[in-house]
Amino acid sequence: QPLAEDTGEVSMNGYEHYMLKEIHEQPDSLRNAMRGRLNDEDATAVFGGLNLTPQQLRGVERIILTGCGTSWHSALVGEYMIEEFARIPVCVEYASELRYRNPPIENNTLVFGITQSGETADTLAALNETKRKGHRTLALCNVVGSSIAQAADGGIYLHAGPEIGVASTKAYSSQCCVLAMLSLYFGRMRHMSFESGGRIIEELRRLPAAVEQALTCDSEVRRIASKYAEASNVLYLGRRYNFPTALEGALKLKEISYIHAEGYPAAEMKHGPIALVDKHTPSVFIMPRGTTYDKVMSNMEEVKARGGPVIAVASHEEAQIRRIADEVIMIPEVPEFLQPIVSAIPLQLLSYHIAVLRGCDVDKPRNLAKSVTVE
Ligand code: G6P
Repeated sequence: QPLAEDTGEVSMNGYEHYMLKEIHEQPDSLRNAMRGRLNDEDATAVFGGLNLTPQQLRGVERIILTGCGTSWHSALVGEYMIEEFARIPVCVEYASELRYRNPPIENNTLVFGITQSGETADTLAALNETKRKGHRTLALCNVVGSSIAQAADGGIYLHAGPEIGVASTKAYSSQCCVLAMLSLYFGRMRHMSFESGGRIIEELRRLPAAVEQALTCDSEVRRIASKYAEASNVLYLGRRYNFPTALEGALKLKEISYIHAEGYPAAEMKHGPIALVDKHTPSVFIMPRGTTYDKVMSNMEEVKARGGPVIAVASHEEAQIRRIADEVIMIPEVPEFLQPIVSAIPLQLLSYHIAVLRGCDVDKPRNLAKSVTVE
């Protein structure tokens, strides 16, 4: 296959598209997100730029996570993580809504703007509005020195390196990873034991290797993509930590292949989306083993019974999955809070290969911009 010429300052490193290169960079971008931030001695995470005293951080009673697009999806993952590990109530808000909604915000609320570019107008405005009201604002951002990084009181950089493809991939996994470290950090300030903190650190350290392993599904995903590239509608279903993954998988497909796709919490399927199921509408079930595994399995059975093609993303070889699903994509087993990062890999690849097969401009999809500086 002839390779497109490298454009701009960032080399394509032999990949045909920036998006594919960025998908494959994730083991490294995750290592960079964690570098110097895991502290074994105290079994916690360390961040240099929060610019808040331990007392101020200990006093946080609510966290608002805000952003747009893919960054809003990582905020949903962050909500689950922070509530599980730090037991701090979290609200996730679309920045474009937060800025005009004028919600009552209690004292001791910390507001995080999550953004790859650091330039998204709505995220900047939401942060400035909450800052003006006297709340502490932090940025979780990739681009160093960007407007949002400068506007916030402090923050954490993703260190994912430049992301050129309009559809966000490595920035998303790095956002989830930083949010996991943040949950560890807040957790260890509160009730989390040294042992639990140490276990989370070990699990985080194993993550880049798990992502490397997940990437080996590439050729299998390409084969599956060729079977479903003509679909007009695709459903993505997952539960708990994999509900945001379902939203993100659907967004990736919409963005670059222009196929209509919807992400739903798997159990909500019976309240509407199941009406869409027919033999032309594939459903992607994100179902690595975990708390709701059996429930999602029966949702998958319901779709199959209605004649819908089923693609399962699973972590364990199991006769039952093979029996129900038309296609099974295997990903390595990781703890539930890290599943969104690992299970996003095959979904990024699926949308990439489908878009390429449909002849779409993967790196520069129609009507979309990498950073949206209009309101
Ligand atoms: C645009 C991009 C998306 C991105 C969103 C938020 O819509 O196309 O990929 O998720 O903006 O961007 P940000 O830079 O704030 O993360």
